[in-house]
Amino acid sequence: MRRPALLLGTGAVVLVLALLAVWLVVLPDDRDTADDSTSTGPTTAQADLSTVLSDGFDDGTGRWEPLGDGVRIAQDQQVTRSGAGSLLVVGRTEAWHGAQVDVSGTLTPGVPHTVTAWVRLGLGGGADPTDDAAHRTGEVRLTLQRRDGGAGDDEYLHVAQVTATADEWMSLSGTVDLPAGDGTWRLYVETTGTLADLRMDDVLVQRPSSPVQSDLTGLRDAADVPVGTAVAGQDLTGRRADLLTQHFDQVTAENAMKPAVVQPVEGEFDFGPMDQILDFAVEHHLTVHGHVLVWHRSTPDWFVTAPDGRPLTDSPADQQLLRDRLRTHIQAVAAHLADRYGDNSPVTSWDVVNEAIDPAQSDGLRRSPWYTVLGPGYIADAFRTARDVLGPDVALYLNDYDTDAPERRRALVALVTDLLAHGVPLDGVGHQMHLRLGADVTRIDTTLAAVQALGVRQAVTELDIALTGPDQTLTAVTDDQLAAQGDLVREVVAAAVAHDIASITVWGLYDTRSWLRTWPTDRPLEAPLLFDDDLQAKPAYRGFLAGLGTSPNSDDN
Ligand code: G3I
Repeated sequence: MRRPALLLGTGAVVLVLALLAVWLVVLPDDRDTADDSTSTGPTTAQADLSTVLSDGFDDGTGRWEPLGDGVRIAQDQQVTRSGAGSLLVVGRTEAWHGAQVDVSGTLTPGVPHTVTAWVRLGLGGGADPTDDAAHRTGEVRLTLQRRDGGAGDDEYLHVAQVTATADEWMSLSGTVDLPAGDGTWRLYVETTGTLADLRMDDVLVQRPSSPVQSDLTGLRDAADVPVGTAVAGQDLTGRRADLLTQHFDQVTAENAMKPAVVQPVEGEFDFGPMDQILDFAVEHHLTVHGHVLVWHRSTPDWFVTAPDGRPLTDSPADQQLLRDRLRTHIQAVAAHLADRYGDNSPVTSWDVVNEAIDPAQSDGLRRSPWYTVLGPGYIADAFRTARDVLGPDVALYLNDYDTDAPERRRALVALVTDLLAHGVPLDGVGHQMHLRLGADVTRIDTTLAAVQALGVRQAVTELDIALTGPDQTLTAVTDDQLAAQGDLVREVVAAAVAHDIASITVWGLYDTRSWLRTWPTDRPLEAPLLFDDDLQAKPAYRGFLAGLGTSPNSDDN
């Protein structure tokens, strides 16, 4: 009877090995992808490839353009390799006609890049539409072209070539050593003969990730106050975690502590995303700035909806319901923190009320649902409830954007003055500081001085500096822009430090992770943070250090 047991044991081992092999094959790819800024899931392994271009054509044709006179491109939703769409190229009258994308700002000269795309021929198009068979097979080629590289002639790097048909998707994949030096780059797909329509899907360009620069001065070590960054779960492993703990000693949950995440349905709490961040903070001895309790954009609809489905009104009963809901929410969060961390909660401050100001209103207050139901007193109520529930050791902040704009500054100062005059337990003012190149530091300085004079703490809570405005399209990032960004960071940080700032937080760990990459539309080259897509320090990092009164300690950064 032992032999079957042995057989069973051997079988079990084989099964385990087989499962392990399958698991390894399907293991989530933990690349530092350039297109994962909305992902909130954890990553599991050390990254070693960075994705610099990823186009699935699910939302349209992206930055791709026709290549050749008369060529047209469109998103096709009928024939796709994955997702909702693919790219269809029609009207080709030359073999070199195809589709192209400018990858100048995307590639890193001097580094090998792996390019993959899936291609397939279309049935229509071509020089002789009656000669159907001629369109069914043909060579499709993927090429990288450098122009004005300084050596005179254009340079062509043929990435891969494959015999394609109209019947199935074929993979085109190759690794090319990108020469160092200047020039603009484009990636294009063409054929060597057939004039059939072309289909393409799932284009991916990757390069080896660079190691985190461990020889740089940690921002946290150079500052006298906490230096923070906004994070999501994906920032907490591998190289990103290394970068995070090297430079920052405080974090703000970019989204995980917002009411819409924590309590999406009344009475149903999801502390998972928040716990992930707070556990990391505890493990690495980081403090946490809580974000946020009252913010119209992250208040789920149920908060301001009556049990019978009608919007809450300003009736006393509805007002009480909304106040109770806020208190219940804060109590649930506080109880969870106490359960999980006891007396060692990493959360040292909270944005109690966010974006309450609207200088266009006579009283300077935004007509949010909170205001509509509770009137202007909702702000004082929220702070009193927060103090009551969270206790005296947690600093309570009023947070807002564009506080440097004179009319917003006036409204902010008036509001804080009024709250303090009424004994409202407000400890600090948060200046979001979502800035743009060209921002006027004098105005920022004036606001910081004005708030300092009110006798409350103040913090920079969400710093980033966009290279362009939301209505502009960035086609390439120039060294001049990055240098100007560095200068502006230096001036802003220096101004903040000069006005007794309590902490300075940037809104994201590295450029790929910025909310500006997808707001108000896709802005794939926007680069508003201190570290680039490859997690390397930018002039903005050096500007931050210089603003703190320190220089980087390495020659090569
Ligand atoms: O996680 C979902 C994903 O599952 C889904 O597929 C995707 C589809 O759109 O949405 C994802 O959620 C998005 C979330 O960011 C995570 O990326 C939300 O739609 C999107 O609204 C949310 O945007 C956040 C925004 O606040 C609104 O809450 C940004 O990440 C976040 O950076 C931004 O941060 C705000 C501060 O809280 C307040 N100050 C301004 C600042 C910038 O807008």
